[in-house]
Amino acid sequence: MKLLITGGAGFIGSHVVRLFVEKYPEYHIFNLDALTYAGNLENLVDIEQAPNYTFIKGDITDEDFINGLFHSYKFDKVIHLAAESHVDRSIEDPLAFVKTNVMGTMNLLNAFKNLWKADFNDKLFYHISTDEVYGSLGQTGLFTETTSYDPNSPYSASKASSDHFVRAYGETYGMPYVITNCSNNYGQHQFPEKLIPLFINNIIHNRPLPVYGDGNYTRDWLYVKDHAIAIDLVFHEGKNTETYNIGGFNEWKNIDLVRLLCEQMDIELGRVKGSSEQLITYVKDRPGHDLRYAIDASKIKNELGWEPTVTFEQGLAKTIKWYLNNEGWLSNVTTGQYQSYYAKQYN
Ligand code: NAD
Ligand code: DAU
Repeated sequence: MKLLITGGAGFIGSHVVRLFVEKYPEYHIFNLDALTYAGNLENLVDIEQAPNYTFIKGDITDEDFINGLFHSYKFDKVIHLAAESHVDRSIEDPLAFVKTNVMGTMNLLNAFKNLWKADFNDKLFYHISTDEVYGSLGQTGLFTETTSYDPNSPYSASKASSDHFVRAYGETYGMPYVITNCSNNYGQHQFPEKLIPLFINNIIHNRPLPVYGDGNYTRDWLYVKDHAIAIDLVFHEGKNTETYNIGGFNEWKNIDLVRLLCEQMDIELGRVKGSSEQLITYVKDRPGHDLRYAIDASKIKNELGWEPTVTFEQGLAKTIKWYLNNEGWLSNVTTGQYQSYYAKQYN
């Protein structure tokens, strides 16, 4: 089987690529990635020589390139993760999100459909989406697979749009597909623009921890390797045209999470208890900030038998240790462009 994974040099994609390359030597895994600021081949050095792995540098927004690639390689299945993924960046530059997340997805859908429309047997387009498409919850309730779409940020609107197109291609052309909508991931190799790695990096350097608004926003956190396990399961056992929500059964208010992180970092860094907490700084809120996300993951649990394997405390401890042991990775990704992004976003 020729499996195309897009965005495989990014955070979640690199964990998915590694899992598939190691677990399925009989598949050939093609990792297509444009290597934007978020893509990093250092994430995959341990498997880059594997005989069942090929990296292809390329941009999903380049229609001719994508058509040519599908024509040459004839991928049987696709797991599509490539995206612009950071909400704050989508507020600054919404069109970049339309280009990659909507137009890029369209290019993949068209190339896949045109290649296999005569016979879709044993073919699959697996689209990786987010819980943010459902909008924001109040203090109670959970997102289920039937919750209406109600996206609030340019990022989530672009992801919602791509989800709709995937479904439309299933309905209209009979293209086999599955979609998963996952909650907030954390773990090793996450780019330090997202809450947890940003704050780990700032604590290491004794920099302020910029908590948006009052910090009472809630997210449902999942360890990235548990997401990769869920993707493997849905890829192999998910039902055609179905959506599965994936979540950690693990809700945290931002401020409580940040306090836990500070506590664990003080221990790891041998600092006086309470010292990292003093770095907490409340800053201007994110525009359109969604109050709460929480996933009802009972469908994937009951139908496919998936559950997170790692508790939040365990996952966070592993994550902190990884960043502390890989300061070279952190400093490589936080030079240059990162400095100007940081100055613009936080100063
Ligand atoms: P990421 O930003 O870490 O990685 C994205 C990858 O896509 C990078 O390697 C980047 O180089 C690549 N890419 C970007 N634009 C591209 C283009 N035009 N052509 C080819 N490659 C391109 O993102 P992530 O956090 O790993 O998220 C991966 C996917 O999972 C995204 O679709 C995201 O919407 C979804 N998701 C993320 C989370 C989360 O918490 N991070 C949760 C749910 C769903
Ligand atoms: O829910 C899934 C989504 O989770 C994914 O689809 C996105 O790709 C991913 O980026 C993530 O989106 P969030 O906006 O929830 O993640 P982020 O890490 O940016 O922020 C988490 C929370 O922390 C959110 O309430 C905003 C807050 N925050 C974030 C940053 C970067 C701060 O208070 N300060 C910060 O500096």
